[in-house]
Amino acid sequence: MSSAHYQMHDAVAVITLDNPPVHGLGYALRAALVAGIDRALADPNVRAIVLIGAGKMFSGGADIREFNTEKATSEPTLRTVIRSVEASTKPVVAAIGGTCMGGGLELALGCHFRLAAPGATIALPEVKLGLLPGAGGTQRLPRVIGVEAALNMIVSGASVRSEQLQGTALFDEMVAGDLLQGAIVFARNVVAQDRPLRRVRDIKIDYPDAEAFFQFARNTVGAVAKNFPAPGKCIDAVAAAVSLPFDEGLRIERESFLQLLHSPESRALRHAFFGERAAAKIPDVAADTPTRSIATIAVIGAGTMGGGIAMNFLNVGIPVAILETKQEALDKGVANIRRNYESAVKRGKLTREKMEQRMHLLKPTLSYEGIKDADLVIEAVFEDMAVKQAVFAKLDDVMKLGAILATNTSTLDVNRIASGTNRPQDVIGTHFFSPANVMKLLEVVRADKTAKDVLATVMALAKKIGKTAVVSGVCDGFIGNRMLEQYLRQAMFLLDEGASVEQVDRALEKFGMAMGPFRMSDLAGNDIGWAIRKRRYVEKPHVLYSHIADRLCELGRFGQKTGAGWYHYESGKRDAMSDPEVGAMLVSYRNEKGITARKVDDDEIVARCIFALVNEGARILEDGIALRASDIDIVYLTGYGFPLYRGGPMLYADMTGLPNVVRSMQQFAVNPNADAAFWQPAPLLTKLAAEGRTFNG
Ligand SMILES: NC(=O)c1ccc[n+]([C@@H]2O[C@H](COP(=O)([O-])OP(=O)(O)OC[C@H]3O[C@@H](n4cnc5c(N)ncnc54)[C@H](O)[C@@H]3O)[C@@H](O)[C@H]2O)c1
Repeated sequence: MSSAHYQMHDAVAVITLDNPPVHGLGYALRAALVAGIDRALADPNVRAIVLIGAGKMFSGGADIREFNTEKATSEPTLRTVIRSVEASTKPVVAAIGGTCMGGGLELALGCHFRLAAPGATIALPEVKLGLLPGAGGTQRLPRVIGVEAALNMIVSGASVRSEQLQGTALFDEMVAGDLLQGAIVFARNVVAQDRPLRRVRDIKIDYPDAEAFFQFARNTVGAVAKNFPAPGKCIDAVAAAVSLPFDEGLRIERESFLQLLHSPESRALRHAFFGERAAAKIPDVAADTPTRSIATIAVIGAGTMGGGIAMNFLNVGIPVAILETKQEALDKGVANIRRNYESAVKRGKLTREKMEQRMHLLKPTLSYEGIKDADLVIEAVFEDMAVKQAVFAKLDDVMKLGAILATNTSTLDVNRIASGTNRPQDVIGTHFFSPANVMKLLEVVRADKTAKDVLATVMALAKKIGKTAVVSGVCDGFIGNRMLEQYLRQAMFLLDEGASVEQVDRALEKFGMAMGPFRMSDLAGNDIGWAIRKRRYVEKPHVLYSHIADRLCELGRFGQKTGAGWYHYESGKRDAMSDPEVGAMLVSYRNEKGITARKVDDDEIVARCIFALVNEGARILEDGIALRASDIDIVYLTGYGFPLYRGGPMLYADMTGLPNVVRSMQQFAVNPNADAAFWQPAPLLTKLAAEGRTFNG
């Protein structure tokens, strides 16, 4: 099957890119393009060539399905294709509609003429994968749209509509009507008028302010993208386009591209990109599984989570009935939702009219009668099994058949919740993160009996409300919180041994975590962890815990909401301020336990906390709670503030080298204060390390 079609229209050869869904420039398409150009050159009847995409779009760029395969770099590479297009002795016209991105735009820039349909999206988004355009984009784009506009596009990766670039040398003409016909007419005119072939590489750049501009750009980029090398390399490459001959510039672009390709940051970004796509796939649930129609939603409980959850659906126009037990709680919940929208209006993010439309879709109720017709109901009441079971028994009675019954529980057993109903196949966990209207992550908890179409429906709905959904099996804490518990346990052991609250937070923030563990606990509320630990002391008496956080909670220091936690907070402010009382508490706690404080260095803090995530992550994989290592990474990147440039805990372990991770764990295990049992590397980790393999294959 060819992925380019060749057709004659009188003296014009039309080569149509056809590699759905985005005409990615995979090996077969590249080979077909070169063959098409050669055929046209060899045919004396051909006077001009048109490149166009089948259907509406030109090309989305590289074929991501070929990433990391030999095909991606096999000849003809995109650079070869562009060279043969540019060197053609017959005019080559690119007819650009729909999407023209990355390698697609670089190909168009290699053509002698370019036409665009209005509304086409133009972009060089490589920087988003930690790369730069590697097939001449950094050299040719500045020559046609100007240095500043080109640099903005290349450094941001943002899309620009074709109309915005009208009047630049990027487009010779805009074609409002039939793009192919317009391109054929244009090509005929080029031939009739014997217009010279215009190679972008020959355009001279005249930019006297170059030095000052690039300096300014470097300062700006250095400040906002300090952990990512790609934006800086983009600037270097565009600077080379201004100061060096074309082929020299190409060489610099190429060198930078290869350096970036092998950088850990690009690896992390590509991992996150593919990981998000992989997370949507569930091996035993076919992509074409029919989904249930979800036209209306009900939310039970209008507290912190219920309100945020409801907003997700209101935002996309789905009516939501929200149920509470008391009028006062209901009013408070609705007022919170309104206040959130009001603040978006004040910030100019939402129009008042849209806000009213959304509020109009919200139906507050105190009666199950008001929710019984909903297609999906999400329970967000107190985290208490008896309360949840009572709610599900009621739902089982009143909800129409086929309705999906979801729970937002963070820690409770979804199988137990399901088994209390007569329809466990319709029960599923939807674990939103706080604030639920903001956080991207949604853990979708698949219980033993959850029906496949229920799972498929919830995954599709998650996409509709803009969430990144990751499937988790049933276990205490699911993927994210189960791992977090181990991370926090280490953070507290480190305090016991001699580190300060500030040092632990600082070390992990320097590593890249959005917030250190103690600042995070103060934000979430220390009472939540306290409640979980109290349960653990009974359920798992053999597991070692530091009791330092319990002492904190006994003093009522629940965090920001009480003005004091691991830090002190001034009324109405969120700035964490060191509190000598906490330091003193630590000293007396160590004395009481007979621990002599030692100097703990930052590397140990990072390794112990992050490898705790890794070890528990490996166990989660072994237990089949997560489907794949990248799902764990996506959970941490989208829900727990793990630094994107490190790609998530499992990729970080891969990049550290699993044998090194194992060795560190063995060292941690011999620390006299350690929970040695925890530091036994998970069997999966040991096995992969021994076989020289990685979590992410
Ligand atoms: N707060 C978080 O960060 C967070 C994050 C993820 C998941 N969760 C989970 O979400 C759920 C709700 O947590 P929250 O923080 O919103 O609690 P919350 O206390 O803020 O809200 C719970 C609401 O449920 C109402 N309620 C209680 N029993 C009810 C009943 N029988 N019928 C109707 N309404 C009832 C209460 O009046 C209250 O308004 C819990 O299961 C919690 O574990 C919380």
